[in-house]
Amino acid sequence: SKYVVGIDLGGTKILTAVADMEGEILAKVKRPTEAKKSKDIIFANIKETIYQVLEKADINVEEIAGIGLGSPGPLDVETGVIVNPPNLELKDVDVEKELSEFKVPVFLENDANAAAVGEKYFGSGQDTKDMVYITISTGIGAGVIMDGQILHGADSGAGELGHATLDPHSDVQCGCGNYGCFEVLASGTALSRRGREAVKERKDTMIADLVADTAEIDGAVVAKAARKGDKIAKEIIDEVANYLGIGLANAINNFNPEKIIIGGGVTDSWDLFAEKVERVMKRRALDFLVKGKEITTSQLGSEIGVKGALGVVLLRLEK
Ligand code: BGC
Ligand code: NA
Ligand code: ZN
Repeated sequence: SKYVVGIDLGGTKILTAVADMEGEILAKVKRPTEAKKSKDIIFANIKETIYQVLEKADINVEEIAGIGLGSPGPLDVETGVIVNPPNLELKDVDVEKELSEFKVPVFLENDANAAAVGEKYFGSGQDTKDMVYITISTGIGAGVIMDGQILHGADSGAGELGHATLDPHSDVQCGCGNYGCFEVLASGTALSRRGREAVKERKDTMIADLVADTAEIDGAVVAKAARKGDKIAKEIIDEVANYLGIGLANAINNFNPEKIIIGGGVTDSWDLFAEKVERVMKRRALDFLVKGKEITTSQLGSEIGVKGALGVVLLRLEK
């Protein structure tokens, strides 16, 4: 029998799974990406996870029918080339070539697009024709499904809304080179940056007490402090929630989705953000487009990306 491999390549971690031709996951493996190291290290890490899932599920390499890879963009879905993602040390990487030892077709898709596919086929998007899936993790990206189809655009870059300028006066530089991008103001990276700044500025906060080293301050740490009642942490969350509300309103005005689904690391503490994000979104988007719309968090949790990558390879093998 035949199996497929799905890989969710993120700025922080790689999650790989092997599934049967129905998309049923048989084994999965997670490991750090080491995104700031070289292409060779990142791909050695990816290959390691592939061999590990195969071993776990007791499947031979020859039994694989295809590999699906969800990666941060910009990337080219047609040629299978990862161009230059802001949060990964990869430049013009031909993924089929890198994974040629498996001797199967490799299908590349933008990570947020793949997650949108996952949500459409396995999650809460099943009877929705028009939806936007937004990932709020190391970066921010969107997978846009319109009329039941993923929107790709001329260069596979439709939905790169993480790099929409949200603050033209900002001096915070994004991995893409621009300043004040949505993702640099509202991603998990933004939470961690604001948390570290607060500690550095010696603000009255317990954030530093929750970690051994300030380098360990990430979004989850800031959320934890806020949950314990830390005022500074709550302010940071409020600030980020405001940007998220604006970003989601922009997505609504741009695409007019029936459903807006969010996922990614930040959504683990969504209860801390939800009320404000929704309030700002409703105020900023056109009434006619936003009325009756709610933000749904992905029910697939941290598996959404890898399920999406599996969905992508299964769909493309059918064609
Ligand atoms: C990339 C997007 C990606 C998002 C989430 C952004 O920096 O430009 O393509 O979807 O991060 O990984
Ligand atoms: Na996209
Ligand atoms: Zn940017």
